[in-house]
Amino acid sequence: MGAKAYAVLSTHCARCHQVGSAQPGTSAGGIANILALSEIARDPALVQRGLPDASPLYTTLLRRAMPPDSRREAGAPAMPNADEIQAIRDWITDLGAHPAGACPVRSSPGPARIGEVIYRVVARLPAAVARRTRFVSLTHLRADCADETEMAQYRRAATELIKSLSPGATDVRLLPIDPEEMVLQFDLEHVGWSQADWEQFVADYPYAPFYTGAAMATARTLTGSNAPVVRADWLANGWMARTGADQRAAAAARLFGLPLVEALARQYAKPAGAGRAAAELGLSVDEFLKRLADAPARWEAVAQKVRYRVVPRRELLELQALASGLDPEGLAQAGPAGSSADRPLSLSIWPSKTSYRVGDLATFRAHANRDCHLTLVGIDKDGQATVLFPNEFEPDNLIKGGQVRDIPGADALYQFRVEHRGRETLIGACLVGGRLADGIAQDFERQRFTTLGNWRAFLYRSLAEEAARTAVKPEEPKRGRRRVRVRSAPKPEPRVPAENHARTAVTYDVQ
Ligand code: HEC
Repeated sequence: MGAKAYAVLSTHCARCHQVGSAQPGTSAGGIANILALSEIARDPALVQRGLPDASPLYTTLLRRAMPPDSRREAGAPAMPNADEIQAIRDWITDLGAHPAGACPVRSSPGPARIGEVIYRVVARLPAAVARRTRFVSLTHLRADCADETEMAQYRRAATELIKSLSPGATDVRLLPIDPEEMVLQFDLEHVGWSQADWEQFVADYPYAPFYTGAAMATARTLTGSNAPVVRADWLANGWMARTGADQRAAAAARLFGLPLVEALARQYAKPAGAGRAAAELGLSVDEFLKRLADAPARWEAVAQKVRYRVVPRRELLELQALASGLDPEGLAQAGPAGSSADRPLSLSIWPSKTSYRVGDLATFRAHANRDCHLTLVGIDKDGQATVLFPNEFEPDNLIKGGQVRDIPGADALYQFRVEHRGRETLIGACLVGGRLADGIAQDFERQRFTTLGNWRAFLYRSLAEEAARTAVKPEEPKRGRRRVRVRSAPKPEPRVPAENHARTAVTYDVQ
């Protein structure tokens, strides 16, 4: 299983997503290790184990987003074919049977606990030294799958970064203050920074309000800083954002670990899922999701999305604020920038409950950030697929951007009743400038709800048929006087560009 997937990734993807491959590989889109299967298998931004339809590594292929056509050099291999795409699907499905390969769950001290740890240090320092003492913390990075080697690299990156804050500084020492060396202490004077320099740098540290408690309040007073401790990945990201390319090049000469600093910064900038979000707060994933269960309507869609997928950092910050009893509105301003208009098309779907009993009525909800045409497909425990939406009762499948849509709608003349025990999957696809995803054709005179047979086989056929259509193009003579008449076959819906096609999947249990 893994061998086939490896072959596909190596043929079609490595030239842009593998650093240090035989070819001059790169790290397009921040994916630098596509051939390290065990690593990508535990990256929730690429793979949801056992759920290919929710795994960007696979859905990117269904959307025909990769490899990007425009960047393909002549002679380079074309799009992966239906068999190759199926190999990726099967590999991800198979991973679901091996949860052992997933990340070990590690607990991480939350900001309040870190506040206590630094308080104990600053309380013992002479007042003047306390005012110059600052900390960087790496604890949350460890909870998110990083092994000891990676942690050592992050620690080194943080150390080098602090050393390089001031080019002239030579005598910078970072002192671990905990047994696991996850919180590092340093002296502003050694990096040549004033307290005011530091306050300016941390003015927009969005996680400052998360450090609560009496110990932290005293630590703030003793250090004279609103943010005496910051996360190392935020620090790296902020440094990258504030440092121009020239300055970075100059720093690269000093910092032998610039790629490490960049990797650390990516930890902050990249979208993340519930596991990371919870670790950053020192919560278990279950506790984090429980605290989001009654999220206000405005955040319902993203609170549901994070159960299954990674979300952009700004949205993550809003959810973390909600889970911590803070006001998400004010905080979001401080998150990484990006207006909603230039955010990519995104779709969330979720069942009204995470589990049902046989005989219950189910409602599904969908939310997209732009107007698009929604297809919802239900897959039963045996892999059989039925198009739940659109259907004869609700044939118009255009949903409004920014609004939650219930399916069935409030006045719809049909219901979904769950009939069998087991785990079911709900697939959603939303198209801008197209109506139905995956080459689905509907005939309501024959069926009120279109059945597609086995979902895996259906997708395979749909991809193979599309490839057959696009491969052979009859050549029409251009210059001849007589027009050659080509009988036109019924035209299938043209495929929409990848950026106009969002898709996802969720599962729920029936007991
Ligand atoms: C010609 C270079 C190139 C090739 C080949 C390529 N990619 Fe990409 N990929 C990119 C670039 C550039 C980005 C980031 C920008 C973007 O999303 O277009 C990216 C982004 C991605 C993303 C993140 C997309 C997202 O929506 O966040 C995934 C997943 C991905 N690629 C998977 C693959 C897979 C799987 C293959 C092989 C079938 C592949 N890529 C082949 C250049 C490439």
